[in-house]
Amino acid sequence: MTTKIAIIGAGNVGGGLGATMSRAGFPVRFGVRAGTDTKALLESCGKDAAALDVTEAATWADVVFLAVPGSVALDVAKSLAPTLAGKVVVDCNNPLVWKEGPVWNPPAEGSLAAAIAAIAPGAKVVKGWNTFGAEFHKNPSQAGVPAQVYLASDHADAKKLLAEVAEKSGFRAVDAGPLRNASVVENTLEGQRAVVFGGGSGAGLAAAKRLAVDGAWTNTRDKGAGTYQALFCSGDDLWIGSETFLEWTEPDTVTDGGR
Ligand SMILES: NC(=O)c1ccc[n+]([C@@H]2O[C@H](COP(=O)([O-])OP(=O)(O)OC[C@H]3O[C@@H](n4cnc5c(N)ncnc54)[C@H](OP(=O)(O)O)[C@@H]3O)[C@@H](O)[C@H]2O)c1
Repeated sequence: MTTKIAIIGAGNVGGGLGATMSRAGFPVRFGVRAGTDTKALLESCGKDAAALDVTEAATWADVVFLAVPGSVALDVAKSLAPTLAGKVVVDCNNPLVWKEGPVWNPPAEGSLAAAIAAIAPGAKVVKGWNTFGAEFHKNPSQAGVPAQVYLASDHADAKKLLAEVAEKSGFRAVDAGPLRNASVVENTLEGQRAVVFGGGSGAGLAAAKRLAVDGAWTNTRDKGAGTYQALFCSGDDLWIGSETFLEWTEPDTVTDGGR
């Protein structure tokens, strides 16, 4: 059975992601507010895409992506909580608010994803698709290799399903462990505000492997010398570290940034 995907929020992230997944063959429904013009977006999608009311879209779907401003993500999850029971819910959001610049404002639970899981206890919440810019939701291969998606969740079946959806849509899925790691996955974006890519034969992955890193790797858009952040995985543990490269292929110093 084809996985039915709802995207709540049809902005930079939701619009790009929905169009990408639709073109990959998934049936997609955008959950939008009344009066939203989705004509151009739907024209960029595959054949089975439509826009519905937010609750209608979530009700219809197997998997519900939340791609709304971080400041309203919890309100939206709360209003949809009964609808989300039993469904896979992907939290693409970051707890950023703007006060004369970006301010990191995580909820008391430590991450938006953990807070959403508390608000919607029947949902299988997964953190993911939040660590790269919206240009990669629109085109996962824009860096020349598939953008990596870090999936943190306590629901192994949900991560397995999303890994299949990710790979079919042109991303590379990385298991980021349990939901408690969502705070690290969210902080990755805050720490670097950069592009996540890897896989294939990239030098970054080679270096990461040499450092016994378990396949997860983040770096900046620029492949030159400099300090790069990386997500380090070991079993269920995940932490952010940084490495300084004198040249791209040779790790010079390694600094464990702690968990
Ligand atoms: N932009 C990025 O590069 C990027 C990258 C990674 C993660 N993120 C995260 O992804 C999320 C979305 O970012 P974005 O850049 O796509 O934002 P955006 O372009 O502003 O889009 C937000 C969407 O959410 C909708 N929305 C707002 N309030 C809503 C509500 N109460 N109920 C239902 N829908 C609502 C908006 O609809 P209206 O038009 O009706 O307001 C709009 O379609 C954020 O949490 C952000 O932190 C962004």
